[in-house]
Amino acid sequence: MRTIAVLNQKGGVGKTTTVVNIAAALAAAGSRVVVIDFDPQAHLTIHLGLEPQIVQFGSYKVLTQSAEFEKQILLMRPNLWLLPANINLVGAESELVSVVGRETILREAFQSSRDKFDYCLIDCAPSLGLLTLNALAAADDVLIPLQPHFLALRGFGKLLQTVELVNKRINPNLKVKWILLCMFDGRASLPNEVRADVEQFLDKAHGTNCPWAQAQVLPVYVRRNIKLAEAPSYGKTIFEYEQNCHGAEDYRKVAEFIHAQFQPSTPPDAQPVTISEIQDQPSAPSAPSLLPDSQVPPQPSTQPAGVDENQTQPPIEIKSIPQSDSETQSSELTQTKTDQPDTN
Ligand SMILES: Nc1ncnc2c1ncn2[C@@H]1O[C@H](COP(=O)(O)OP(=O)(O)O)[C@@H](O)[C@H]1O
Ligand SMILES: [Mg+2]
Repeated sequence: MRTIAVLNQKGGVGKTTTVVNIAAALAAAGSRVVVIDFDPQAHLTIHLGLEPQIVQFGSYKVLTQSAEFEKQILLMRPNLWLLPANINLVGAESELVSVVGRETILREAFQSSRDKFDYCLIDCAPSLGLLTLNALAAADDVLIPLQPHFLALRGFGKLLQTVELVNKRINPNLKVKWILLCMFDGRASLPNEVRADVEQFLDKAHGTNCPWAQAQVLPVYVRRNIKLAEAPSYGKTIFEYEQNCHGAEDYRKVAEFIHAQFQPSTPPDAQPVTISEIQDQPSAPSAPSLLPDSQVPPQPSTQPAGVDENQTQPPIEIKSIPQSDSETQSSELTQTKTDQPDTN
């Protein structure tokens, strides 16, 4: 199982939307996916159509009552399970304050379930507290959604410092893998400037040992799309709500890109792989560098309704990560044009 924490301590940047729709696309293509709602606001739970008030189980019980992970998850769609949240989760941090090993409860809870799923996506709370530490202790990879406005990079350094701390003390496997630009408007100049700033910052880390040394800005953006904002109020993923809109197209591409990164490496001149092609392929050995737990990538089991598998996808450009001679790596972004007071 590949565990991806979707992390940004800011609210409203697209974390929940990203978790729901990447998970839905991966599940639709045959991967077994479990999503974890680690935000007391329970937006992930609501987005998948479950009312948090009626939830008597889920992430709170796993964290505070040693409840068995597999007894707390619900099958929400074919191949897509949810560990739900409710408002009780807000009390988890204080309840656990004197518990030894409280940062690794989630990791231990799903340890024995790792071979039952291909992907686990964690929707982190908009804070860097105990819930987020649990998510990072359990994760292999971090995906950071960024909304490219002028305050986007404030707090980015703090975020990376937290990842670095967890990487050093609790989880040496943890890596920041991707920055996903959400609500992107390519016609405006600012989003492109933010993107350039982030890339410049990441370039300095390439070749170092820091946990974001292999991070890249995903070459696929998620455009601002009203359908993505409407879908949660119907408890639907974007593929169920409006499968042909830009939002569906973008998240399908992001999921394909991520999934392709965990497949055995392709020759440099090979065509990019799409999920529909992967579905037809026989089981292949996993790439050791990308799958340290040696899980063979999943094979498709079902094709839920709501995903148009015949829709032709423009090929995804898979960029190699540029290498640069790295000097001292600061975890704060100090020279960005966006260095403004953080009001969020
Ligand atoms: N690409 C997008 N275009 C338009 N609205 C979006 C997009 N992504 C997310 N939204 C909306 O923006 C708000 C914040 O997104 P959300 O995923 O809940 O962020 P977070 O989980 O980081 O707080 C939600 O109302 C969501 O529906
Ligand atoms: Mg959210």
